[in-house]
Amino acid sequence: MADGGEPPPKRQCVQNLQIDSSGSLLPQGFASGLVGAVQQESGRDTHGSTSLTQQVQRTAENLISEPAGPGPLSSRDRERIATGAYSQREEALIKREQDGDIAFRYVLNNNDPQNLIYLVGLKNIFSKQLPNMPKEYIVRLVFDRRHRSVALLKRNGAVIGGITYRAFHAQTFGEIAFCAVTSHEQVKGYGTRLMNQTKEFARTIDRLTHFLTYADNNAVGYFEKQGFTRDISLERERWQGFIKDYDGGTLMECVMHPQICYIGLPDMIHAQRIALDDHIRRLSHSHVVRPGLTHFIDTATAGGFGRSSRYSVIPIGDIPGVREAGWTPSLASVQQQQGVGGGGSKYRLVLDRGRPPADPAPENLQVFLRSLMEYIQGLEESWPFKEQVAVQDAPDYYDVIKDPIALDVMEERLASGCFYVTLEIFNADLRRIFENCRFYNAPDTIYYKLANKLESLVNQYLTTHLLFDEQEEEAANPAQA
Ligand code: COA
Repeated sequence: MADGGEPPPKRQCVQNLQIDSSGSLLPQGFASGLVGAVQQESGRDTHGSTSLTQQVQRTAENLISEPAGPGPLSSRDRERIATGAYSQREEALIKREQDGDIAFRYVLNNNDPQNLIYLVGLKNIFSKQLPNMPKEYIVRLVFDRRHRSVALLKRNGAVIGGITYRAFHAQTFGEIAFCAVTSHEQVKGYGTRLMNQTKEFARTIDRLTHFLTYADNNAVGYFEKQGFTRDISLERERWQGFIKDYDGGTLMECVMHPQICYIGLPDMIHAQRIALDDHIRRLSHSHVVRPGLTHFIDTATAGGFGRSSRYSVIPIGDIPGVREAGWTPSLASVQQQQGVGGGGSKYRLVLDRGRPPADPAPENLQVFLRSLMEYIQGLEESWPFKEQVAVQDAPDYYDVIKDPIALDVMEERLASGCFYVTLEIFNADLRRIFENCRFYNAPDTIYYKLANKLESLVNQYLTTHLLFDEQEEEAANPAQA
């Protein structure tokens, strides 16, 4: 016989497994199991005094040596850190386990009548779900005394799924022979929970470190999602000759981490997310949400949507968060001198063909934008974009387009003299006119086509009226270009 006889003593989460009346072993509670795993890790007894989250949190804090930032998460923030879809599905099943709707049993063929009933149930499911497997083979392995099974039971005791594996104790790996969930209970997360329970039983009771299995093509995807890979890290001499070779199957391996309690994964993942979030908070202020500017809302409310001429400049330093992000008035003036930032773009403006191009200084920019606006307004393609869309013309327009704009709004902003302080801001508004139009209208409509046409005319205008530094260099040194 290849395996090492009786299983060695139980350890780690095993204190959380209790023997039921039939001699089967069942987990007492995932949370206590997880605390057991953490105790094992920290080597001290914390019975009932601290939660797992606190323990992992503390471990994470000890690992972090960077200077403290705004501080760790508040308890309200902790609750707000979302669990992912995987954890939510597992948590729902854990709840059902706690409510007694479902249960997992570690089953041996030890002549116990209840265990034999479970094994018969498993044999039936495997025979049905794995029709290519000879039934005699399934019976032989399921009832083999060297094999272990984990049965998934409904409240009424019916077996609805299970995994059978052979434990090679001396080699500390197990070979999964069969895994199935009854057809009408598939794709509900049972297969995942079943595998996690099996890993936990195999890790704590059988003291296995690896699972191997020959997966057929249909099952490779499922096993991959359960942490199995095609790379086999287990030394060949530990498994070769112990497990059977199957033609057409893919040999896959799963390493079971000694400190991971597989039946408490959602708690562990949540604790890790919190620790990670705490760490990020120490390094960054990105989680700090400052009050938004009311300036634009006030302006819009005062004069209808974007129609007020009361635009006024907000000093940059008064915007909440700007100073905290490192902005200072002296830095800003240095940047302005160096031509960095909004006012210092690397292009010049052709204001008059007979004169050299001008710097985009505020007064030059205003002249340039007014000429551009005049040009756009004078084009016959601009008629649909001159005014905001009227609700009576398109009742759902403002449900679809959340950031409307039109040339008349731009005119007012331009007239204020302080809104379009860079060409980029003007350009962003203009492009939004075209994008909104193309988003709302179908490509074969006149509006869509006019948006394209107008945009292409604007592009042509900009090509001939903006001179970028590279173009100037090329003009000066045509040989190098
Ligand atoms: N191929 C690819 N992915 C699969 C899959 C398959 N054959 N079967 C399930 N999955 C995916 C699910 O979509 C799910 O993905 P998600 O986590 O991203 O949502 C994940 O694997 C687990 O699904 P889950 O609901 O937990 O599994 P299940 O209860 O449906 O059970 C099997 C999965 C494989 C046990 C079940 O489909 C079955 O009994 N199949 C027939 C027998 C079989 O082929 N056994 C495997 C070889 S022994």
